Amino acid sequence: MLLVSGVVSTATHEEPAVLWGARVHLRCLTPDDFSDWQAVRLRSHAWLTPWEPSRPAGSPDIIRNRSAFATRCRARERERQMGTGYGFGIFAGRRLCGEINLNGVQRGPFQSAYVGYWIDQDCAGNGYVPEALVVLARFAFEDLVLHRLQVAIVPRNRPSRRVVEKLGLRCEGTAERYLEINGVWEDHLRFAITAEEWTQRRDELLERWVIGPGRL
Ligand SMILES: CC(C)(COP(=O)(O)OP(=O)(O)OC[C@H]1O[C@@H](n2cnc3c(N)ncnc32)[C@H](O)[C@@H]1OP(=O)(O)O)[C@@H](O)C(=O)NCCC(=O)NCCS
Repeated sequence: MLLVSGVVSTATHEEPAVLWGARVHLRCLTPDDFSDWQAVRLRSHAWLTPWEPSRPAGSPDIIRNRSAFATRCRARERERQMGTGYGFGIFAGRRLCGEINLNGVQRGPFQSAYVGYWIDQDCAGNGYVPEALVVLARFAFEDLVLHRLQVAIVPRNRPSRRVVEKLGLRCEGTAERYLEINGVWEDHLRFAITAEEWTQRRDELLERWVIGPGRL
């Protein structure tokens, strides 16, 4: 168990177990989470679909298929073991509210990863995702020792832009036809934070979103 700036975390480089924020915690999903995950995904289907890649033809429907969800959990577990990706459920107490992931971790001279997230419509507006993103950034920069995180956002996705605005992530401009979202190659605004910026801003971000004022 690690003690990171006054916050207990069980995360290590090899085994990210639970990452703690002030109100949310992040942990890897397991096949036992299927019922809760399915309920959230079914309830929030119309809310999430406009902002997500479409399901490739012929691939299993993980929302309706328990074993496909278990396969996804195992794939995420392998990514963790290989150090290429770190996926987490966002929990408020015992409630599964959403997911946040470090995807496509690249080492070598890049030392970088992409962040993706979503939240249950019923949990939106509580600042859970910005909090989770700060928790994830601490894990990425301080435990995984990455150098750069990037978030790509469809320009008309105002709620997601608010998340990165609240955290002061730097906008690096527009990447044209960057990702396939709901069947369309969409332009994306690319936001980033580097390890240097994290070092400069970590206390401010942790105090505001994770630990509370004056507790560092
Ligand atoms: C983007 C998203 C992750 C934000 O998560 P969140 O935990 O609600 O974030 P916040 O609480 O900080 O809210 C961010 C903004 O969302 C908007 N918002 C809040 N509640 C909302 C609701 N019920 N419905 C629509 N928008 C809402 C507000 O503009 C808010 O900004 P404000 O706090 O300045 O008013 C969430 O809206 C979501 O999952 N959307 C669908 C999937 C998605 O867009 N994923 C990201 C792809 S890049």
